[in-house]
Amino acid sequence: MAGKAPVIELNDGNKIPVVALGTGRGTAKDAPIEEVCQAVVWAIEEGYRHIDTAAIYQDEPQVGQGIADAIGKGLVKREELFVTTKLWNDRHAQGQVVPALRESLQRLGLDYIDLFLIHFPIALNADGSPSNIDYVETWKGMEEAKKLGLAKSIGVSNFNSTQLDRLFANSQIKPAVNQIEVNPTLTQVPLVSHCQKLGVAVMAFSPFGFLVSRETKDDPPPRIDDPTLIAIASKYGKTTSQVVLRYLLDRGLIVIPKSTNQKRLAQNLDLFDFKLTDEEVATISQFNKDVRVIDPKTWKDYPNYPFERN
Ligand SMILES: NC(=O)c1ccc[n+]([C@@H]2O[C@H](COP(=O)([O-])OP(=O)(O)OC[C@H]3O[C@@H](n4cnc5c(N)ncnc54)[C@H](OP(=O)(O)O)[C@@H]3O)[C@@H](O)[C@H]2O)c1
Repeated sequence: MAGKAPVIELNDGNKIPVVALGTGRGTAKDAPIEEVCQAVVWAIEEGYRHIDTAAIYQDEPQVGQGIADAIGKGLVKREELFVTTKLWNDRHAQGQVVPALRESLQRLGLDYIDLFLIHFPIALNADGSPSNIDYVETWKGMEEAKKLGLAKSIGVSNFNSTQLDRLFANSQIKPAVNQIEVNPTLTQVPLVSHCQKLGVAVMAFSPFGFLVSRETKDDPPPRIDDPTLIAIASKYGKTTSQVVLRYLLDRGLIVIPKSTNQKRLAQNLDLFDFKLTDEEVATISQFNKDVRVIDPKTWKDYPNYPFERN
């Protein structure tokens, strides 16, 4: 069975499906981790072909089990899937990158990964204290991973424009992807356009923004019942969450909605029978407040912190 999401070509010639199942569970820290395995099987049954995980999510064994179960059921072959994982901040030394990837592959039960990302430009020591390792050094390890065939594509996450430019100027292999937060309250217009000019595909994480509760005191609009989003959703016979995912796709982004609920994860892939007008895209962009869901201010004084410091 073919995947439901179209694919786009990365700058290294590999093809990436534009919808990935998110497995990081920042919104469900207390839920049993086994739910990830079931969600991966449901997702593949539904037609997802791209799964996003990371060493720090500690769910690579469950993601790997879900993939193995789906392959065992004859739903897909390994080569039909696109699996993304990420290097955590405490493995940034050049010589640590390939070993860290091998550990991820072992946990996933895979012999290669489709996309390997530096999770943050910030390096940490094992005790969580700041480290001075330069991400340009880390990138050399990423290039080794690709040359060994352990990662088909390599990229970054949470890099700002200046960091991306510096990496471009100091690398043999250019990053294929920058995975950043993009949603209606954090539209990231300048960074997205910079990545697109460089030929770097953008993966949008936390795509729902504050549509879903983040348990902060002042969650900004739009929420899931926002009247502007409801009006657009009714026009197309869709939900407001589908409108937000379509908004990101219509801006040329790859989306990573997380769900462990069978009905909602199906909804999050049912996006390819409608398209927003340019005016609707502009209307949703007006929600922008440059407010982040993922705002790791505890690192704000560390080297290479990529976000606003105030
Ligand atoms: N690179 C990075 O630094 C980074 C950072 C954060 C996240 N990520 C990746 O991006 C993924 C997504 O980000 P996220 O988990 O922060 O946020 P998200 O996907 O924007 O939101 C997830 C939340 O929305 C709910 N939900 C899912 N589909 C829904 C629907 N159709 N209607 C209503 N509610 C829905 C989910 O609950 P249910 O599960 O109950 O449906 C969950 O509470 C992560 O899982 C991870 O893979 C990467």
